[in-house]
Amino acid sequence: MSIHENNASSSARISDVLESAAVRAGERTSTGHSIARMSETGGALAPFQLEQRRMIHREESVRQQSDAFRGIRTRLLGLAGQHNFVTLVVSVSPRSGGSFVARNLAAAFAFDEAKTSLLIDCNLRYPDQHKSLGVEPDNGGLIDFLEHPSIGIEPILYRTGIPRLRLIPAGKSRENSGEYFSSFRMRTVVDSLRCRYADRYLFLDGPSVKGSPDARILSDLADYVIVVAGYGRDTPAAISQAVANFEPDKLAGVVFNQTP
Ligand SMILES: Nc1ncnc2c1ncn2[C@@H]1O[C@H](COP(=O)(O)OP(=O)(O)O)[C@@H](O)[C@H]1O
Ligand SMILES: [Mg+2]
Repeated sequence: MSIHENNASSSARISDVLESAAVRAGERTSTGHSIARMSETGGALAPFQLEQRRMIHREESVRQQSDAFRGIRTRLLGLAGQHNFVTLVVSVSPRSGGSFVARNLAAAFAFDEAKTSLLIDCNLRYPDQHKSLGVEPDNGGLIDFLEHPSIGIEPILYRTGIPRLRLIPAGKSRENSGEYFSSFRMRTVVDSLRCRYADRYLFLDGPSVKGSPDARILSDLADYVIVVAGYGRDTPAAISQAVANFEPDKLAGVVFNQTP
C-alpha cells in the first residue's frame, strides 16, 4: 500500500492516499470455537456477552463489520510480510471509536487459529478496555508492572473470554503517562512481548491524538499506526492534523468509524 504522500492537507487527498475501511455499527452475537494452541480453560463468551462488549465474531449477522476488520487485518499482514508486529490504534478525537477499533482488530487477528493477539490498554488517564471486555484487573495492569517489574508480566496478561485474545489493562490511572511510554522499560516490555511468540500480534490502544502527546510518543513503540476518524465527527482538517503526527512509513491507514 502506498502511504508516503500522507502529509496531504485535503481530505480528498487523505482518502486517495490512505487505505480506509468504513466500520458500521451492527448487531453482534457470538462464537465459541475451540482453541488451537493456547490453553483456554475459562470457556468462550455467550452471544449476549459479546454483544455487550461490542465485539465482532464469525456469524453471518455481523458479517459486514467483521469483514471490515478482516480487511484491515489483511492490509496489515500484507505490509508486514512474515513477521509479527505492533500496531498502535488511536482516534482523532475522544469517543471516535479508537478503543472499539483496537479491540475488534485484535479480535480479528485472534480469529485466525494460527495467531494470538494481545491488546494493551495504553490510555492511562481514561483506561477503558477492561470494562469493555468485562475483565477484573485484580492483579493490576501495565502501570503496576512498569512501577514494579518484580510482579512479572504473567499476572497482568488477562484472558478475555475470546480465544487467543489477551488483555493487559492499563492499571492505576495516571496523569503523566508520557513519561512511562518514553521509558526504556516500556520499550523493553513491548519488544519482549512481541519476541516471545512469533505468532503473537500486539495492539496498543492509545488515547486520542487531540489533547495528548501520548499517541505520538506511543508511535515510537509501534511498527504501524492506525488512525480512527469518527465519521461525521472529525473534520477533514482534524484528520489531516492527526495524521501529520506520525511517521509516514508507519501510517497504515485511516479507519472511518461510524459510532451508533
Ligand atoms: N462502530 C461502532 N459500533 C458500535 N459501538 C461503537 C462503535 N464505535 C464506537 N462505539 C462505542 O462508542 C463508545 C466510544 O468509543 P471508544 O472506542 O471508547 O472511543 P475512543 O477510544 O476513540 O475514545 C464506546 O462505548 C464504543 O463501544
Ligand atoms: Mg479509547
